[in-house]
Amino acid sequence: MPAVIIVGTQWGDEGKGKIVDYCSKDADFVIRYQGGTNAGHTIVLGEKVFKLRLVPSGVFYGCRVLIGSGVVIDPEVLLKEINDLTSNGVDVNLVVSGKAHVILPYHPILDGSWDKVRGKGKIGTTKRGIGPTYTDKVARRGIRVYDLVNNTYKERVRLNVKLVNRILQHVLQVDHRLDVKEILKQCSRWGVDLQSYVGNVSEIINRALEEKQNVLFEGAQATFLDIDHGTYPFVTSSNPIAGGACVGAGVGPTRIDKVLGVCKAYTTRVGEGPFPTELDDDVGFHLRDIGREFGTVTGRPRRCGWLDLNMIRYARMVNGLTSLALTKLDVLNGLERLMICVGYRWRGSNITSLSIHDMESCEPIYVELEGWETIFNGDEICSEAKAYIAKIEEETGLPIDYISTGPKRVDTICRRSVW
Ligand code: GDP
Ligand code: IMO
Ligand code: MG
Repeated sequence: MPAVIIVGTQWGDEGKGKIVDYCSKDADFVIRYQGGTNAGHTIVLGEKVFKLRLVPSGVFYGCRVLIGSGVVIDPEVLLKEINDLTSNGVDVNLVVSGKAHVILPYHPILDGSWDKVRGKGKIGTTKRGIGPTYTDKVARRGIRVYDLVNNTYKERVRLNVKLVNRILQHVLQVDHRLDVKEILKQCSRWGVDLQSYVGNVSEIINRALEEKQNVLFEGAQATFLDIDHGTYPFVTSSNPIAGGACVGAGVGPTRIDKVLGVCKAYTTRVGEGPFPTELDDDVGFHLRDIGREFGTVTGRPRRCGWLDLNMIRYARMVNGLTSLALTKLDVLNGLERLMICVGYRWRGSNITSLSIHDMESCEPIYVELEGWETIFNGDEICSEAKAYIAKIEEETGLPIDYISTGPKRVDTICRRSVW
């Protein structure tokens, strides 16, 4: 099975990095297709913990790793990441699409300032410049990696800086002026430093697929942060869903064989927006504490709640999921009773689909399951955890191919390989 997309089914941080790394053992190519430095994908190898922002998580198994045109790149972060990996003895066999857009120093400034202006309606972005960079891309004034290496950015950068300075001064009333000379100098340096990584990613991937190589598409963020299909406006500015993989990598939908959804055994969210199963009590605290639910990029505490299967059903629909990887099941250890949301009460009726434009007024309908002390009974999963897993499969109609019971590779049960 050559082409597999791995996507987040909730609000991000489901453990995509861990699952992509695990599945990369048998992959030839791993490609990131959207998002940018807002992503934080954690891979634990022995005593070492890697938190990747841009480099695909297949890098540790020596796969050819690619960054597609749908990703927005902060060259400073990418170059540092490559350097950190290399100095830790990791071979980085990377190709970056020349069509990918560049996060420039003014994008994070605009990101933070706009979110401040929103006041109570703030999104709580990662302040990494993601929204403003995609805005420039769509407005056709963005700078691409090709521009950096071909030296075709100067006039556009000058114009953009002029525009941004006016916005900062007159619209956002921020006391910050950009130094165009400094930015042009940085661009020139980045062009030189990135030169050897730039290539035609779409062509490479399509050739690999022709040759029946195993290709993994690594999603960042998740279904409910999708700009079209997530909880708008509390979303990111790209398409993390499976369809985004075709656009952001430059492959046709007929090439895709499977879509694996990564689903945390409970739900978390960083930033603002609706969250029907959120827990503001001891259990929520317990999940945050045991699950170490603090943002990988920003360090913010993640909001925690029960597993919401209505969300996973929706994720199945919009991604065309073929199976699930269930992660962080161990975090539920020690809870006496477990609740799973199987539907919503919405405007007086029970629904099992998702009216996403009105998630704020959805009240969860729960089924209660028995908890467990530890997942394993000897080598076997205990009967209570088995019942929890079976309930997810029953309600979503999706088989669970992988079960993750800890951050390390060895803490993974593979029931059926995606390959
Ligand atoms: P991603 O953005 O989806 O890749 O997820 P993050 O890396 O931001 O957050 C997932 C966190 O959970 C990381 O700290 C992982 O090391 C950790 N993790 C992944 N799988 C498991 C698991 O099964 N159990 C536990 N306890 N931690 C896990
Ligand atoms: P990974 O790939 C969790 C959230 C932010 C904010 C919203 C918009 O690690 O799962 P942005 O900076 O993208 O404009 O912020 O999206 N967000 C994430 N939450 N995991 C992520 O990535 C996220 N990337 C963005 O917290 O609510
Ligand atoms: Mg993360």
